[in-house]
Amino acid sequence: MTATGYQGATAESIRHHYDLSNDFFALWLDDSRTYTCALWDDGDPTDTLEKAQERKLDHLIEGARAPGADRVLDVGCGWGSLLDRLVNTHGVRHATGLTLSDSQAEWLRETGLPGTEVRVENWLDHQPEKPYDAIISIGAFEHFARTGLTRAERVGAYREFFDRCREWLPKGGRLALQTNIKGNNVRMDKQTVRDLLFIMDTIFPESEIPALSEVIEAGEKRFDMVRLRNDPDHYSRTCQEWLDRLRADRPRAVELAGEENVADYERYLSSTVSHFANRHLGLSRMILEAV
Ligand SMILES: C[S@@+](CC[C@H](N)C(=O)[O-])C[C@H]1O[C@@H](n2cnc3c(N)ncnc32)[C@H](O)[C@@H]1O
Repeated sequence: MTATGYQGATAESIRHHYDLSNDFFALWLDDSRTYTCALWDDGDPTDTLEKAQERKLDHLIEGARAPGADRVLDVGCGWGSLLDRLVNTHGVRHATGLTLSDSQAEWLRETGLPGTEVRVENWLDHQPEKPYDAIISIGAFEHFARTGLTRAERVGAYREFFDRCREWLPKGGRLALQTNIKGNNVRMDKQTVRDLLFIMDTIFPESEIPALSEVIEAGEKRFDMVRLRNDPDHYSRTCQEWLDRLRADRPRAVELAGEENVADYERYLSSTVSHFANRHLGLSRMILEAV
């Protein structure tokens, strides 16, 4: 827990997941270590996870109108693939990344990407010296409301995030947001409920996936939605790739993270392949403009 009022997963729970082992994650993520849903080109039979991750980053960077910008904020920067793409491909002069994971920050500082700054800091505590030209957040929003809150409390927690982002952008500035969402339209079978509980207890403690309507409600009067796409099939395919890569080098994975963790990650990834394919989960990519 950091400042009062924060309703998201605590730093301890975030570290429980992301501080497991940098080398373990590197084993099954693509080379850029992007740990979120890729954007696949179904018409391209030669598509790869590497290309699909770059395409995803470019989609959000362009949607946020970040190319050539002076200052861009990445909320939940992971191992820095977006920061890298912003400064090295899109001519951004200064990119700031926030994470709650010490391991991610240490790794990024060792890598020493010019034009970037990484801070182990909750967005709630972030106090930029100047406004940003654009903000991008990929796969962190799922951590911004703790398990067990009421819908109204969740909307309040998300609104706090939108308030901060609005404060840090000029009118007309853009926020690109990618997050998993609940697939509220499909009845769950018992196995799906068990798998989702396992993921909430063991893999991502304290985190709860938002409903799309909660995200939209929370952003009202702060942001206009200018683009929205839902790509559950893209996350199913991304998780399948990760699972294949993990299984291809399983003995090394066990060396790095231990048998129990590897078995847990196999269960988490394989069930997630189905949850997205069955629409129990969705994947939203949103472009929002500050009003
Ligand atoms: C699934 S990872 C995504 C990383 C990266 N965006 C990517 O696409 O690879 C989620 C990230 O959100 C960060 N995070 C979660 N809650 C946060 C918070 N309240 N403030 C700052 N970062 C947070 C985690 O530390 C982690 O870096």
